[in-house]
Parts: sequence; C-alpha cells; structure tokens
Amino acid sequence: MIFTPNPSVTCRIDVAGLEFTGYTQPRGGAHAEIMALRAAAAQGSDVRDAAVHVSLEPCAHHGRTPPCTSALIAAGVGKVVVAILDPNPLVAGKGVQQLRDAGIEVEVLPVDHPEAIASRELNIGFFSRMIRRVPWVRMKVAASLDGVTALANGQSQWITSPAARDDGQAWRARSCAVLTGIGTVLADDPQLNVRALLDSPEGKIAAPRQPHFVLVDSQLDIPLDAKLLKTIGQHGQASTAYPQETIDLIAPRAGFIYHSSQNDQKIKALEALGVKLIYMPEAGSGKVDLKAMMSDLAVNQEINELHVEAGFKLNGSLIKAGLVDEMIVYLAPKLLGAGMGLANLPELSALNALPAAQDLVYQSVELVGEEGSKDLRIVARVRSSQKF
Ligand SMILES: NC(=O)c1ccc[n+]([C@@H]2O[C@H](COP(=O)([O-])OP(=O)(O)OC[C@H]3O[C@@H](n4cnc5c(N)ncnc54)[C@H](OP(=O)(O)O)[C@@H]3O)[C@@H](O)[C@H]2O)c1
Ligand SMILES: [Zn+2]
Repeated sequence: MIFTPNPSVTCRIDVAGLEFTGYTQPRGGAHAEIMALRAAAAQGSDVRDAAVHVSLEPCAHHGRTPPCTSALIAAGVGKVVVAILDPNPLVAGKGVQQLRDAGIEVEVLPVDHPEAIASRELNIGFFSRMIRRVPWVRMKVAASLDGVTALANGQSQWITSPAARDDGQAWRARSCAVLTGIGTVLADDPQLNVRALLDSPEGKIAAPRQPHFVLVDSQLDIPLDAKLLKTIGQHGQASTAYPQETIDLIAPRAGFIYHSSQNDQKIKALEALGVKLIYMPEAGSGKVDLKAMMSDLAVNQEINELHVEAGFKLNGSLIKAGLVDEMIVYLAPKLLGAGMGLANLPELSALNALPAAQDLVYQSVELVGEEGSKDLRIVARVRSSQKF
C-alpha cells in the first residue's frame, strides 16, 4: 500500500539467519527503518553489524520524524544496501554520506538493477513530485473496441465488465487523488472512491485509504447534492490487513475543486460541505489553468500520483497541454459506432499529420476478467515521460 504523500519503502534487517521487515507508515508515523529496528528489538535480536536492505535511501533530515540515518548509526548496523537514492533534495545522497561518515559500509544498487527499478516504479509519483514538481498523471479510459467512451447522449455506464471496473479501482487505490471534470459529474454523478477489494499476495484485501478527489469545474456547476461531495471525510474500507496504529494515521478523503468562478454564494456553500476551493483561472479562456493546477497539486497539496477519470473534453485538454504521463485503456469487445472518443484532440492533418501524433510506448497488454467477458487492458506511457 502507498501511504501518500510518503513514499512506499521497505526495510529488511538480516541478523543471525532471521529477517525483520518494516514498512513506512502513513504521514507522522515511523519510517521503514525504524519499524524494522523495532521488530528486531521486539524479538530481542542484536542488530549490531547486521546487513540492512532499504528500498529507498534512508532519510537524513528532521521532518515529522527524526532522521533514520541516526537510528541506524545508533543501532550499530554493519552494512546498508540502498536500492535507489532519494530524489527529495533534503535527502539526495546525504543519507548515504552520513552513514559512510559513521563508518558504515553502504552499497547503492545501479539504477538499472531490478530492485532499483521496482522501487522507482512503485514510487513514480513521489519521484515525479520531487524531481519535476508535478504529479505523475495516469489517465484511465474505458472504451469499446472502436474507441467510443460515451454515447452521443452521454451514457457510458457501463462499457466494460465489472472485473475491468474493479481492476480500475485498484489503480484508483494506489493513487493519491482521482481527478475528473464537471461534464462527468453532471452526466454520471460518480463517487470516484475505492469500493472493490484489492488483490494482494495474501488474497483480496480492503483498501485502508481513500484517494482524495480533484474536480475541474470552472463555473462551480456541481450540484450541492452530488454524490462526490458526500465522500469528503471518508475513511478507507474496514481493513484487518493493517494494524490499527497504521489505520489511525491515515488522513480521511479530501475534496479539491479548481475553478475560475466569482460566485461567492456557491463558494461558501461548497466550503461549508468541506470542499477545498482553489481559484485558478486561465488568462483568456475563463477556464481552469490546468498547468498551474498540476503544480499546485504537487507543491501545495502533495499529490504524488494523480488518477484521471474524465470525459472527452478534459482528457483532450490535459493531453494537449502535455500533462499526461501514462494511459490505461480498457477495451471492451463491442462496437458502439458513433459517440465520444478517448479525448478531444486537434485534427492531426492541421498539424502536419503523423509526426505531430501523441507518441506513447506500450508497457503492458493484458486480458482482465472472467472467461467469456474479458476486456483488454493496455498500459501505455507517453514517450517524453519515460525519462525524468
Ligand atoms: N468511458 C470512460 O472512461 C469515461 C470516463 C469518464 C467520463 N466518461 C463520459 O464522459 C462524458 C463527459 O465528458 P465531457 O467531455 O462532457 O466532460 P469532462 O471532460 O469530464 O469535463 C469537461 C468540463 O471540464 C471543464 N473544464 C474546466 N477547465 C477546463 C479546461 N482547461 N479544459 C477542458 N475542460 C475544462 C469544462 O467545463 P467548465 O468550463 O464549465 O468548467 C468542461 O466542460 C460523460 O458522458 C461520461 O459518462 C467516460
Ligand atoms: Zn526515514
């Protein structure tokens, strides 16, 4: 589980044939190294000279918790293997340096080592926020085989199978926030939360955290009785997969609306419902400035991974502005003919055709669902987002 905005980190201490593992807790809680040291201490194990494996460089600064480097040094461990350096400028290399200065042997795995790649992929949103100062933006779309995402009358529920929808909820669950447009709220009245059980190595588990929601609604047209607004303050599903101390640290769902409205009455009414309203007009269009919204989401709201489930118009604007990093497209084996496509994009012919096309790289192609009702799931990454 990713306890946003913290990165997801694992620490394993090998001592006398035993392994003690710890995971980074939600904000305000202990980091992986401390959890692993505590686990060893609880068993009375002496960790002096032990080998420690961490999936991210130990922190070296006083944040909400004291630095993990100090705890490792005080414990007298012998060696630390770091899968990848922390991109956080407050840490970046300093953690490794502090350990070495204290005489601890440190090995940093090469960037193309499978453990380094796995750690970065799991924390791609955290890396994006730290390095690029924008979230990692993943756009999910459900379409028919001929690329229709909604009928001309706006109907889109449901194009894909329940299994594909549950799979989509697992991607929501790993994100920090789910973003949509007012068009989708008015058409579908969605909740955009996690209700499906998630696959884990231990079987199906409940999601202990609800991602926040982000709505793009220039004129604040959202009805005050929209289901989305009722999800503010929601906690995760009751989960026995995590200890209660962990659950207690998880922040409840917040709701953000980015707008360009001066309607004070509506602003007050929404604020009274607990919405965080952010005024972010785009000069000229009167719509929301999507680029500024992305940096606000990363820098001020600490959103690492943003999961987009919007309609044709907002999808198009986000892609045109170069704000999308990855797409998950579920294709149902049916043909719908006319309707809305994946995204409202400019005619390529006007832009010199194919060279101007959005260039993506396939990451995976899989069938999801039960025999007889499978959908295709394609994950593709925008080529220019592959390296940062
Ligand atoms: N199949 C799927 O995966 C899927 C997923 C989601 C939705 N849908 C379907 O999509 C349909 C809704 O599509 P839609 O295109 O009407 O809605 P949308 O893309 O969700 O929302 C579009 C609205 O966002 C607002 N907006 C504000 N700033 C913007 C900006 N800079 N650029 C673009 N939009 C901006 C605009 O309204 P204001 O100017 O008033 O703010 C615009 O009308 C529904 O039928 C829904 O069922 C399908
Ligand atoms: Zn730490």
